[in-house]
Amino acid sequence: MRNLLSSVPVVDFHRVHLKYENGPNVLKNIQFSLERGSFHFVTGDSGAGKTSLLSLMYLDQRPTAGRIHLFGRNLSEIKRKQLPNLRRRIGVVFQDFRLISSLNTFDNVALPLRIEGMKENEIKKRVTELLAWVGLEKCIHTFPDSLSGGEKQRIAIARAVINAPDLLLADEPTGNVDDAMANRILHLFLELNKMGTTLVIATHNHALIRQFKKPQLHLSNGVLECLPSPFKAPLEKSSTAPEFVGEYHDFEI
Ligand SMILES: Nc1ncnc2c1ncn2[C@@H]1O[C@H](COP(=O)(O)OP(=O)(O)OP(=O)(O)O)[C@@H](O)[C@H]1O
Ligand SMILES: [Mg+2]
Repeated sequence: MRNLLSSVPVVDFHRVHLKYENGPNVLKNIQFSLERGSFHFVTGDSGAGKTSLLSLMYLDQRPTAGRIHLFGRNLSEIKRKQLPNLRRRIGVVFQDFRLISSLNTFDNVALPLRIEGMKENEIKKRVTELLAWVGLEKCIHTFPDSLSGGEKQRIAIARAVINAPDLLLADEPTGNVDDAMANRILHLFLELNKMGTTLVIATHNHALIRQFKKPQLHLSNGVLECLPSPFKAPLEKSSTAPEFVGEYHDFEI
């Protein structure tokens, strides 16, 4: 029998708006929910609001209006001191990497496990294995400032997935790597997804979107459209985006 808790969406946006100070409305009336274990791409032109949407899910921004639930918790009711616990369940690959420049590759990736209090010999095993998978075994003792953009991006990815988070938010995670590595990274994400991680991946990479055939949260002029498969026509635009759940099992277009 299905666990009742698993029916609570991992992410639930209700009529969410975001406006930066002195800026335009970046996100308008955004409404969607993501089931546990679902996999979505976030697409849209540069400046469409993809990073802004992810930053709301990571609690980096507060919405100007509307309601967001994460793992069933209403974010507007969460106290500041409770944020770290919630954030620990979320892996984030930032578009600008945000590595800690005073830590070498190994220590950057080990950080989430050390925060969890894992034993050092287990950390060593896991981190070494993952760094080998993303082709960084030779950079294990190197500091971020001496690494290329693609190398930094792979560290950011390894750090985000090392503790198999419940929710993975990846912002252009393949923007700095070649096609073969992009493919490898997506397969790593797929493995996580099979183990139950909910994936939200912002990307401009149409080859990956075509290949992996996952539904899209498509942003255009601040409005969200839900595209169930890569190259079907967008749903009719409206100021209220249609609500959908997970993998569109019951969703007809
Ligand atoms: N901190 C901020 N303050 C003011 N405006 C911002 C801020 N961050 C983003 N914006 C504006 O919000 C809009 C959406 O930006 P966002 O970074 O979310 O777009 P994006 O879809 O991620 O673009 P890209 O594909 O280039 O990464 C842009 O017009 C941007 O200039
Ligand atoms: Mg962005």
